[in-house]
Amino acid sequence: MKRKIWRQKDSSNINIKVGIRKAYLPEKAKVLDLFCGYGEIYQRVYKGNVQAYLGIDHLKIHDPELCRLIKNTVFVAHNDISEYNVFDLDDYGSPWMLLYLILKKRNLQDELTIFITDGLPLHLQMTGKVVKMISATESIPRNMVIPAMNRWYAQICSTMLLDIERRYGWKVFVAYL
Ligand SMILES: C[S@@+](CC[C@H](N)C(=O)[O-])C[C@H]1O[C@@H](n2cnc3c(N)ncnc32)[C@H](O)[C@@H]1O
Repeated sequence: MKRKIWRQKDSSNINIKVGIRKAYLPEKAKVLDLFCGYGEIYQRVYKGNVQAYLGIDHLKIHDPELCRLIKNTVFVAHNDISEYNVFDLDDYGSPWMLLYLILKKRNLQDELTIFITDGLPLHLQMTGKVVKMISATESIPRNMVIPAMNRWYAQICSTMLLDIERRYGWKVFVAYL
């Protein structure tokens, strides 16, 4: 019997990711793609459909003219990101801290669209372990194990969005899960 080797795949759920982005891409989009990888989403959604595009990745890029090889947190911390109205956070993990970093730098008057691929529900399903972020927003001890905590992902997510509103004054108009 062959053993299946599990690896992170850039293209997992690619059709869903593409569908969501096509459905909610605003007109006159200026996209900062902070996990651009080899550009599957760029090819299928953004190419030819946006006013501006910049891809960021710390390991692999798809076009040296359009992308920069740098860690996304470093890029966001040290560059002017005020031009962009769409942020693509197609992470393997959970990009909430990066989202906080972005929102901290932006004006509350700006209307932003943010696409998030969040590995948190999978983490919660596999381990049931409370991560630092949930510990802070839900006020429960870090590393506590709550079986099937992934079933409360929608509520956990809502609390995080409320935390963003409370902390920085942002207003979340619509959030699709
Ligand atoms: C799910 S893949 C992105 C796939 C890509 N959106 C596409 O459409 O092909 C996640 C990517 O994030 C990159 N990445 C992970 N952590 C990063 C970080 N801190 N800064 C920049 N890139 C990062 C990885 O190198 C990988 O290419």
